[in-house]
Amino acid sequence: MMSSEFVETSITQVQDYWNRRPCNIRHSTAEIGTKEYFDQVEERKYLVEPHIPAFAKFERWTGKKVLEIGCGIGTDTMNFARAGAEVTAVDLSGESLKLAKKRAEVFGLSDRIKFYEVNAEKLSEYIPPQKYDLVYSFGVIHHSPHPEKIIEQVRENFVHSGSELKLMVYYRYAWKVLWIMLTHGQGQFWKLDRWIAEHSEAQTGCPVTYSYTKKTVKDLIGEGFEIKENYVEHIFPYRIKDYVKYQYVKEWHWRILPQGVFRQLEKKLGWHLCVTAKAK
Ligand SMILES: C[S@@+](CC[C@H](N)C(=O)[O-])C[C@H]1O[C@@H](n2cnc3c(N)ncnc32)[C@H](O)[C@@H]1O
Repeated sequence: MMSSEFVETSITQVQDYWNRRPCNIRHSTAEIGTKEYFDQVEERKYLVEPHIPAFAKFERWTGKKVLEIGCGIGTDTMNFARAGAEVTAVDLSGESLKLAKKRAEVFGLSDRIKFYEVNAEKLSEYIPPQKYDLVYSFGVIHHSPHPEKIIEQVRENFVHSGSELKLMVYYRYAWKVLWIMLTHGQGQFWKLDRWIAEHSEAQTGCPVTYSYTKKTVKDLIGEGFEIKENYVEHIFPYRIKDYVKYQYVKEWHWRILPQGVFRQLEKKLGWHLCVTAKAK
């Protein structure tokens, strides 16, 4: 069953949270807005989340129309544009979009990307309905109070038969969920969603974080799409005290584990549920 824990949370609370600290903004110590800064943000993001390029398959979208929901500061956005896609990128956070726009300028990609500050639950009220070849959303809709409204928007207004939907949502049976409950949850399993939201992001206290199983994500996507691929990835292995100093030292228990075993665990207990579906 899908959780309805956060349905009463206001979208303004969500917006304020992401404006206070746009996602990945501290991935570099270089001066914000410079080429060096953006290059370092990308390097760190794909170092820590190396499964993203294989999931997004940026090079497949040359000459295609891509709608990105929740672009944040635009790391993946730039790579769709670099690959030659025509990109529409939306986000709720104006502060994130300022950086994403600057990034497009710095890399000479502004003519390939249209940015909009919108609540994706009401997407068609803000951007003209048109059909996209790919709708991509990485780590976003589980932070919105009503993720099903975003899917409905996409299905009704922004895909044609055969369009692809690529979604990453958080996985409920992840190692990270177990870790959150063991280190913070005080055994309060009945408050699982609240504890996950509290500790899901780099900045504590995220107002909304849902998590899904392979079954509940299928229910979320609904009848309009056929799921083509559905797998989990990503266990964050680094020691936080080093990671915040831009040093990459693994936690001792991950260090002693053979890499092959770690990869198997990531595929069973990863935090990122990566779903590719085709619109019917
Ligand atoms: C974890 S960040 C991911 C950003 C980006 N996809 C990335 O991987 O770097 C989540 C983003 O979702 C955006 N977001 C959350 N709810 C949204 C909504 N209803 N409409 C549009 N964007 C939303 C936030 O503003 C934030 O930038």
